[in-house]
Amino acid sequence: MTIRIIRQPLTTVDAPWIAVGIFEKNGGPASDLTGTSIEALAARLLEEKEIKGSVGETTALHEPVGFLTRGVLLAGLGPRAKFDARNAYAAGVALAKRLAGKPREKVAVSLAAVLEAGDAAPVSALVEGLIVGMQGPGLHKTEPNRHPFEVVFVAPDGTSDERLVGLERLAARGEVVGQAVNLARTLANTPPSEKPPKVLAEVIRKAAEEHGVAVEVWDPARIRAERFGGLLAVAAGSDEPPAFVTLDYLNGGDAPTLALVGKGVTFDSGGLSLKPSASMEDMKADMTGAAVVVAAILAAARLELPINVKGYVALTENMTGGRAMKLGDVLTMRNGKTVEVMNTDAEGRLILADALSYAAEAQPARMIDLATLTGACLVALGTKIAGLFGNEEAFAKELAEASQAAGERVWALPLDDDFKDSLKSSVADMKNVGARWGGAVTAAKFLQEFVADVPWIHLDIAGPSWADSESASRDAGGTGCFVRTLTVLMEAAARS
Ligand code: BES
Ligand code: MN
Ligand code: ZN
Repeated sequence: MTIRIIRQPLTTVDAPWIAVGIFEKNGGPASDLTGTSIEALAARLLEEKEIKGSVGETTALHEPVGFLTRGVLLAGLGPRAKFDARNAYAAGVALAKRLAGKPREKVAVSLAAVLEAGDAAPVSALVEGLIVGMQGPGLHKTEPNRHPFEVVFVAPDGTSDERLVGLERLAARGEVVGQAVNLARTLANTPPSEKPPKVLAEVIRKAAEEHGVAVEVWDPARIRAERFGGLLAVAAGSDEPPAFVTLDYLNGGDAPTLALVGKGVTFDSGGLSLKPSASMEDMKADMTGAAVVVAAILAAARLELPINVKGYVALTENMTGGRAMKLGDVLTMRNGKTVEVMNTDAEGRLILADALSYAAEAQPARMIDLATLTGACLVALGTKIAGLFGNEEAFAKELAEASQAAGERVWALPLDDDFKDSLKSSVADMKNVGARWGGAVTAAKFLQEFVADVPWIHLDIAGPSWADSESASRDAGGTGCFVRTLTVLMEAAARS
């Protein structure tokens, strides 16, 4: 799909539906409603508090007088002064969810309000939201409950040719990024028995090859030859063999390399330290870090960014089979460090240890890992904010700014050395679990033992990777979080 942009008065737009932005309180409707029958109506609805214009609110006005269209959908954008990528994305999701509920060929979306709110950056976020909202989590519904439609943007009549070209570029970028988010969502939403490591690795291989990204899939023999003791131990309890996938998108000449590392546990039962049933319900999504790494690299390739990125994803199940790792087992990881297993449910850090060590050996300029790593991070920051850890302040700040620009949320947590004390083991170099409190931090400290001197960021995405229930502006299930942030970060690298 390519989003077309037309320039004409809204009243003359020939589409079954036109979505028009409306700001909260006295922010009012977009200027292209000025002089139409809806201008006064929308103002009155706001005045009488029948509608609020809050983000995610949608109000259908049928058969508007003086319009060619059969319906105008007022889409809330929140306060005018606060309109940013986050609100644009949410508004896009909400309006797409609302209109994709039944088949419609085409929906016109007015850009006036978005453009009035300031610079054109939220245009991409709006498109990302539209693309994401058109796809739901109902992968196995016998009757599809989401019907993607063609989007036609309506720019105000006086928009210059130059501006229009810029808008087209932003819309095209938004489509690529939105589709990457959807890929990560779909992989997370896929039932666990449909995506054992080998199958997921082949899905990744195929997608990478389609986009000209070099890809290698390691089988268990190779993983053993490479001494990935953590990945092998976690996989030992499963009948499904593990896989390790490397991705190379090297389009930046001698520019510095960014390494992206993802946790890919395709189902986390906890292993012998078995999770209670309720805690296992969403553990098919414990491979979100891996999915996001893959999706972000594919987005970089589709955007043809002039950068060097290497991806590393470790794929395994965490099960309770007869060969499962046991409490008290000692593993030797890729970098030679030994780890005493004291909780088999702390498996993410075991597979990341090998992946990070291996990635660090190639001496990338910077490294980011993404992992649904700890419930403790959910306790600390809730379901919508990722924990941000890093060994270099400037890099962490850059990532925080990228997330802000992308409309996603991170919060820095400490990485102080005393948190390492509780990982002490009497038989090995360390244990895989720390003391009761501060579990997100001890997990990050554990990972730090495997990154050598590489400037590194760990994003604990246990919270934002998944939505337990849906809302007007978000679907239930996998969110594909941080594909957007990573894209912004990679674009910044392309400019520097
Ligand atoms: N995959 C889980 C973390 C998780 C929990 C992700 C909830 C998403 C939602 C991880 O492998 C895990 O089980 N972590 C343990 C670590 C503990 C045993 C130290 C946890 O958080 O309970
Ligand atoms: Mn676990
Ligand atoms: Zn896990």
